[in-house]
Amino acid sequence: MADKKKTMAVIKSQENITKDIFSMWLEFEKESNVVENAIPGQFISMYSSDGSRLLPRPISICEIDKNSGSLRVVYRVVGKGTDEFSKMKKGEKIPVVGPLGNGFSLKGGKAVLIGGGIGIPPMLELAKTLNSKENVSVVLGYRDNDLFLKNEFEPYANVYVSTEDGSVGTKGNVIDAIKENVLEADVIYSCGPIPMLRGVKAYAQEKNIEAQISMEEKMACGIGACLGCVCKSKEIDDHSKVHNKRICKDGPIFNAEDIEI
Ligand code: FES
Repeated sequence: MADKKKTMAVIKSQENITKDIFSMWLEFEKESNVVENAIPGQFISMYSSDGSRLLPRPISICEIDKNSGSLRVVYRVVGKGTDEFSKMKKGEKIPVVGPLGNGFSLKGGKAVLIGGGIGIPPMLELAKTLNSKENVSVVLGYRDNDLFLKNEFEPYANVYVSTEDGSVGTKGNVIDAIKENVLEADVIYSCGPIPMLRGVKAYAQEKNIEAQISMEEKMACGIGACLGCVCKSKEIDDHSKVHNKRICKDGPIFNAEDIEI
């Protein structure tokens, strides 16, 4: 169960940035330490005010502003819980638990950040933290020319785009864009749909590059209660000969070679 207390966050802004994707800034009381302790790659669990939906929604942190004590989440409306969040207005309060999960472990050298679809938002705080046009490239995978958040990456990194329909950047997927632009990396950080992460893992293995991948897409309750997020890890348990990890507790960031996807 959750080992952190719920805290009330106040909505500072809510914006429908494109289609079904919303951006929300949440302000926290200083004593909660939620913002103080947050690092890129972590998430928060947001609770519905409707008591019939008790499980929270885990949402990745898109930006951390320690000065104003605020966090930004950019989320897609995928069900009743997120639909309820999207209808909330500035000044309303949301119960939140966080920050949760392990976050990315930052390394030196050349970094390639890869985000696909709704896996793009968590890469923004990471790009801001690394903040090096010299060493950091960001590859963003979209379906079409609806390039949400892309411009916000520009100040911090070199940005490349792949689109499935070929309307912008490289036609194809994020790995096609890495190859086309001959991007070099000492470490890869990635978040996105499982097929994309599979591609990232294979590419990193082939090139012998460390890849940290965020498995947040597979989370449900986010607080260790539902076991809906279990994934297979490489480590073999002595008794069962398998070893499972809970993504919300042991992750959501894993070294790609440590888990089976
Ligand atoms: Fe429910 Fe991990 S998401 S236990």
